Formats: sequence, structure tokens, C-alpha cells
Amino acid sequence: MPTASSSDSSSNQPASADGSGSIDHVLVEDRLFHPTAEFTSKAVISTEEQYQQLATAARDNPDEFWRAEAEEHLHWFEPFQTVCDWQPPHAKWFVGGKTNASYNCVDAHVAAGRGDRTAIIWEGEPMENGQPVDQRTLTYAELQTEVAKCAEGLTQLGIGQGDVVSLYMPMTPELAIAMLACARIGAIHSVIFAGFSAASIAERNNDASAKLMITSDGLYRRGKILPLKETVNEALANSPTVEHCLVLRRTGEDVPMMEGRDVWWHDVVDSQPGEMAAKPLDSETPLFILYTSGSTGKPKGILHTTAGYNLWAKRTFQWVFDHREEDVYWCTADCGWITGHSYIVYGPLSAGATCLMYEGAPNFPAEDRFWDIVERHKVNILYTAPTAVRAFIKWGDQHVDKHDLSSLRLLGSVGEGINPEAWMWYHKKIGGERCPIVDTWWQTETGGIMMSPLPGITPTKPGSCTRPLPGVVPTVVDEVGNPVDSEHGGKLCIAQPWPGMLRGIYGDEERFVQQYWSDVPGKYLTGDNARCDTDGYYWIMGRIDDVINVSGHRLSTIEVESALVSHPDVCEAAVVGRPDDCKGQAIAAFVTTNDREHSEEFRKELRLHVRKEIGALAQPDDVRFTAALPKTRSGKIMRRLLRDVAAGRELKGDTSTLEDLSALAKLREED
Ligand code: WTA
Repeated sequence: MPTASSSDSSSNQPASADGSGSIDHVLVEDRLFHPTAEFTSKAVISTEEQYQQLATAARDNPDEFWRAEAEEHLHWFEPFQTVCDWQPPHAKWFVGGKTNASYNCVDAHVAAGRGDRTAIIWEGEPMENGQPVDQRTLTYAELQTEVAKCAEGLTQLGIGQGDVVSLYMPMTPELAIAMLACARIGAIHSVIFAGFSAASIAERNNDASAKLMITSDGLYRRGKILPLKETVNEALANSPTVEHCLVLRRTGEDVPMMEGRDVWWHDVVDSQPGEMAAKPLDSETPLFILYTSGSTGKPKGILHTTAGYNLWAKRTFQWVFDHREEDVYWCTADCGWITGHSYIVYGPLSAGATCLMYEGAPNFPAEDRFWDIVERHKVNILYTAPTAVRAFIKWGDQHVDKHDLSSLRLLGSVGEGINPEAWMWYHKKIGGERCPIVDTWWQTETGGIMMSPLPGITPTKPGSCTRPLPGVVPTVVDEVGNPVDSEHGGKLCIAQPWPGMLRGIYGDEERFVQQYWSDVPGKYLTGDNARCDTDGYYWIMGRIDDVINVSGHRLSTIEVESALVSHPDVCEAAVVGRPDDCKGQAIAAFVTTNDREHSEEFRKELRLHVRKEIGALAQPDDVRFTAALPKTRSGKIMRRLLRDVAAGRELKGDTSTLEDLSALAKLREED
């Protein structure tokens, strides 16, 4: 069944006037794709009326709507009294009730007689004869025992409610188990992506006063072993609040263990009875902190709490992924990011789904790793990122053609806008033109998906995240906070509280208020620009602030600048994003230096310096030396100009406020 209902001709191919990225693409996109009748007939939400009913109820009677949702979809040890206590910008949800996210994700299924269902299918990276060397399948009943054992181990290490536990781990089931074990006892997990540097780990440990660190000896990535424990040791030398380090054996490498501080997982966790019950916790008990980049150099510890977040993750998972009992669902994210939190752990597990989890990378041992996994495990739902899709296109169709992808019925995208060319390839090549694509827009702060097609009913337009989910009330405003007309676009805000919303920035109330709630009083400022078309479809047009999106990962340009100027030979640095076919945005750095020679070696050293300071994901793609940076009379670096220079574009706009035009001329000479 062809699904394109309007023109799909090459003349309609979206084109970017200046090759500068996806904004121009999306503005001219007018193709529309309908779900197949077969998909719609079985969908969880299968009629437009059903969506309208849910959206209207959630908008007009949120208390009634969310009361029913929470009562039906979470387990309550004690019932809540108040649905939402909203004192802008502070919301408390399901006040007075007691629940537990670990219970909802694990025990609830065992209690309902579904303990034999597969919860997690995992495979590690090393392969032999076309099969992964390390494979594990955990039923919900087994997961319950593992989580309880880990919770018992944590307790033995002195961890209790309110303590912060930092996790720096490989993508193994133990990462999910450790997260759920924290949730079980009311400890707050802070997962740190295993690509961050020792300095970044220490910064996060100190900001959150972490008491325990969980890590492993190492992890496998692209055929190499990354020595996690060594990095952690370096971090712990500067993390005075951390009392113990629990170490999982993954690679079997010899690692330095510090007597009295470091203990092995197999000693502390494996020997436990595995009987500890989930602790009834107040709805607003902090569940986790997750650090993300904002517009300043210091990462923000986004705080999510128990009941509201759990409900949002579960319901958005069920709505957007149209989850059915028999599905094998695979989200390819890492648990170090919010996508892994909400759509590998809390959402799918509370929905009782069978989730695939993998260690490694999409191009190792070969570029067909994903398609090999899809075929072997008969994956039905695949949720991945545009940067991966663009890489697959580059690697060539032959890697896809080798595999049977007929099990797939639904595809998802997250992390950045998906450009229409990538969308079309995903649709045709991976989805066989039969799978709806859900382009999901959301943020670490929102806890779960905010805008997305509902796959059974929403006709999709490549490049648009389409419409808000029930309970999400978006509004697009101008500079001074007035609603704008749909053609123009402006700042995207959310006008009404929703259960999954962030509750704060850990330890920084002032920044929380200033960052999200000051521009437009009472409305949550997302930091993204968006426009809404005449069909009510939203198009995300990138960030308002100095946040860049590199392969779907958020980075603040100021963070990278701070790392650069911490090098003794650098005086000043300005960092901007430039369009990149694969990563979405690449990192371009402009630096002024002391009199050291501007050699290739120096350039390399600076790139490695940033890698060491923040992590590999922040390493600049370009480093350009310059005599001076272009600044306005008030001394502000003219990033707009640098963005143009970095992208190789003709300089446009007003440059009359430039303090030193020669600086700009110099930069252009170096192009
Ligand atoms: C961007 C990731 C366009 C956006 C879940 C947002 C997107 C930031 C999309 C959040 C999408 C994420 N279309 N842009 N479908 N998804 N973004 O916190 O700029 O890592 O503000 O959360 O990524 O990134 P974060």
C-alpha cells in the first residue's frame, strides 16, 4: 500500500538554499503520509476523535484527566489527595500519595502474574561467528530479584533515601538494574554518560554531593576496551563526598581498587537474598538528576521526581509507540541520556514491554550491526536518532539489504529534527514504506515526549514533529511574550504544567526560575524556536540560546570555550556550531593564543585538551587560530558572524557594530 497521499515527485524534493541545514528544508515540505489502514485498525489510539477527546479533557479538565490516568496506570501504596498543586513555577503532582517507580516497572508485572514475560533482551559488543559472545535475557521476575539484590547491596553500603548515587557504566542490564535499585530505596541516581571525562564526572559528583559511585572495570566500544574505572579513579580524587565505589566486572581487565573505598559488584550484590521490597515513597520524592547543557558553561542537574515523571514516561510510551503485548521494542539510545531513562527504563518497563538493550556502536563489527540485531531479535519498534540515520545513508544501502527487516512496524526519531531526505530514506529503506515514523520532540527537562505523531492516526510530514500529546499545551511567542501568528514562528513555550515536567535544577533555584520561567511569566520556556503551520503542525527551528546539538547531544558552546581557555596557551575562545551532514552540527572553535606557533600539532593538542576536559563528544571538529575575535562595541563576541564564517557562508547582516573589522578579515583569509 503506497502511503504518500500528496505529491512525492522529485520536483518537490526539499532543497536548502544555502546548504545550511534543515530549516529551509522543513519550510517547503508539504508531503503527507498516512498510516496504513492495517496499522490504524490495531492501534491504541485509532481515531482522530479519540485523540481530540483526550487532548480536550487534558487541557480543559486536567485534574480530572490526570486523576484517572494516575489511578489507573500507577500502583499506589497510599492514594493521593491533590492532583496538581501548581504554584508557578513549582508544581507538585499527586500530592499525598505513595508509590515507587521500581515497583511500577518491575513488581507490578510480577504481582499481576506476568513475571515470565521478557523484560530485557541484552547483547554486548564482542561477536563470534555472527553471534554476540555476551547475551542475556531477563524476565520481569528475574529483574525483580536482581533489582532487589542491588538495592540490598546499596543499603549495605550505607545508601538510603535522598542519597545521590552517580552511575558511570556500560550499557549492560546492570545499569538499568542499578537505576531501578536506587528508585527502590528512594536514592537519587545521577547517570553520567560513559564518554565523559574525569573532570566532568567530578564536577557532577560535587554538584550533587554524590555519596556512591557505580562503575565497571571497562566497556567495549568499536573493538576497544574503554577503561572506565581508571577515569573514575581520577574523578574520585576530586570528589570528596563519594564514600564508596561499586565496581561491576565487565571486561575482566585488571583495575586499581582502593582498599576501603572500592568494592566489587559480585561481592556486594550477587550474594544478597534479593527480597527487599520497594519502599512506599511520597509522589514528589526525587527520582533522578540528569545533567544537561544549558546556555552557560556549567551543566544543569535537571531534577525529576517519582510519580509524575513515571506516569508521563509510561503513558507517552504507550501512546507514541502504540505498544502491544507481543512487541519487541528497541530504543538505541544510551542510558546516559534522557532518552535512555524514559524510553529504555521507566516508560517501557512500567508498560511491561520487552526491551532490547545493546552495548557498542552502530558500525561495529560492521555497518550492519543495527539491521543484524533487528533481524535476529525480530524487532518490531525501533527508536533511534537522525544522526544515526544519516550515517546509515552514508555507509550505503548494501548493509541494510543484507537483512530481513520485515518485523519492523513502527519507527521513531529523537534528539534533533530529522531532515526530510533522511526521513524519506528511513521511511523507504528501513520502514519498507509501511511503518509510520514518529518524530518525537522533547527535552531532558520535559521528562518525556511532548510532541509527536500518534502512529495510528496522525498523517506525517517529513521534518515536523506534528502535534502535541494530550496534556501538552504549546504556545509560540515573540520576543516580549505575545503569541505570534503561525506563519512567523517564535519561542516555543508550554502554557500548562504536565506531570513529567522538571521540578528544578538541583541546588540552583535561581537558575531554574531565570532559565525557564522568567521570559514569559507562568509559562515554561523550552529554549527552542518553533513555528506552527496552518494544519496545527509544529516545526522545530533550532535553539534560541547558545546550545548546539552535535549528533543529538546537547552541548553549550560556552562549556567548550571554558575548556579551551583552560589551556595555558589560549587567551580567548569562541565556539559555534556549523552544519554537518552527519552530526547535524559540528563544533567550530576560534581561538586567540599567546605567541606559540599556530601549528597542526597545537591544533591537535587543543582538540585533545577539550576531550580530556569534557569528553570525546565535545572535541572540536575545527580549530582556527585568529589574531582577534570579532566583537561588538559592548564587547560581545559576534557569534552570528562566526557561524557564517564557520559554515563558509557569505557574511550577511549588519556588521556596523564590529569593533575590529580587521579581525573578521583575518578570519576570512584563513577560510
Ligand atoms: C532538540 C532529547 C527537533 C531540541 C530528548 C531540544 C529536537 C533538545 C527533537 C533537547 C526533534 C530533540 N525535533 N529538535 N524531534 N528532539 N530536539 O535534552 O532542540 O538531550 O530542545 O533531549 O534537542 O535535547 P535533550
